[in-house]
Amino acid sequence: MTAHTDPVPFDSGFVQDLHARYAELREAGPVHRLVNDSGLPVWVVTRYSDARALLADPRLGKDAQTIFRLVMDRFAPDAERPEAEDGRFAGAGFDMHMLNMDPPDHTRLRKLVVKAFTARRIEELRPRIEQISEELLTAMAGESEVDFLDAFAFPLPIRVICELLGVDESRRDDFRDWTNKLLDDIDAEASAQAAGDMAQYLTELLAAKRQRPGDDLLTALIEVSEDEDRLSEAELISMVFLLLVAGHETTVNLIGNGVLALLRNPEQFAALRANPDLVDGAVEEMLRFDGPLMHTTFRFTTEPITIGETVIPAGEFVWAGLAAANRDPERFPEGDSFDVTRDPHGHLAFGHGIHFCLGAPLARMEAQIALRGLLAHFPDLELGTAPENLARRNSSLIHGLRDLPV
Ligand code: HEM
Repeated sequence: MTAHTDPVPFDSGFVQDLHARYAELREAGPVHRLVNDSGLPVWVVTRYSDARALLADPRLGKDAQTIFRLVMDRFAPDAERPEAEDGRFAGAGFDMHMLNMDPPDHTRLRKLVVKAFTARRIEELRPRIEQISEELLTAMAGESEVDFLDAFAFPLPIRVICELLGVDESRRDDFRDWTNKLLDDIDAEASAQAAGDMAQYLTELLAAKRQRPGDDLLTALIEVSEDEDRLSEAELISMVFLLLVAGHETTVNLIGNGVLALLRNPEQFAALRANPDLVDGAVEEMLRFDGPLMHTTFRFTTEPITIGETVIPAGEFVWAGLAAANRDPERFPEGDSFDVTRDPHGHLAFGHGIHFCLGAPLARMEAQIALRGLLAHFPDLELGTAPENLARRNSSLIHGLRDLPV
């Protein structure tokens, strides 16, 4: 079979029932056209081998300026295009980061950031992450029922990322609020307001770090330089924004979705309790089985590309369907079953190719620490509601729960 001829609505019904919908599409054909509520059509690739190939395909671009132009061409071809002083379209102010860039700009930025985001810096965070995890789990101990997202999955990563960057304790709640508003599709005005507030705070924070450098990633980012090349102020703010947004909601929902998988599969939970050496593999299986991203961020075709029998013309948007690829039975037999003893290596939850997740080692470490702590503190944890009462968040990228009573 080839792609559906009519676009498939990518609406809240799709989001609530993601894996079943993606499975239907994956079986029907390798590529389909989805159309979201605002009418923007996107091609989605659903099979593992195609998704992996697509992520490494240099004919697909991510440059934010082109994406902005393509969206304007579709929705408002005659509208005036706001132009900043440097001739770029003025966006939200955070678009100059590497996930929005193609080589050679991407290569330059990623190289600079990798210098500051070192394995040593991540490893140094381990004792702090363990301490934060212990604090949160201890605080949960007195309660008979809590929302696991509120009590644990949200506060852990935001505290870690704020600590890594050197963000003041008093502003952490603001950060949670801002990232929430930026990623949910509910209210464009609230999202713009959050972006503005965040930009202002980050500008102040950078100025403060320049005056009083600390032992944190932000100071390191200010200091990195290569052949006289430094991050510009706009690049720096966009970078911090990317680290906060990419590093927060994803980790929250890896932990949330992962714990849900354990609670819905008590025999897997029992296997982990019996053998905590399985924890690292279990985190990989959580990423594969129900990772926090439905698909990648937007890419666009710079020339026509053929997938199966479908030719996607140049200048169209494409997603690699990570959640669909990670359950493709061709690559992961019985992909719909959660099995902490399987070998899930090669899953695409962190992407693939030049944009492969920079924060993967940190996310893995956080989830492994969280899971070990949970097994030690709450070996008898149970779901506080029937699974059919749980709902997914209204986001078109983040695959996460609204709440998780335990
Ligand atoms: C990129 C997933 C946590 C920083 C990506 C991409 C994916 C991903 C799929 C590629 C997106 C694309 O190609 O469109 C995840 C998941 C996480 C996680 C599943 C947690 C479970 C983190 C953390 C950080 C981080 C903790 C940093 C603190 C980044 C950055 C990029 C990225 C900077 C862009 C890399 C580039 O463009 O070269 N992530 N991420 N992520 N992630 Fe993560």
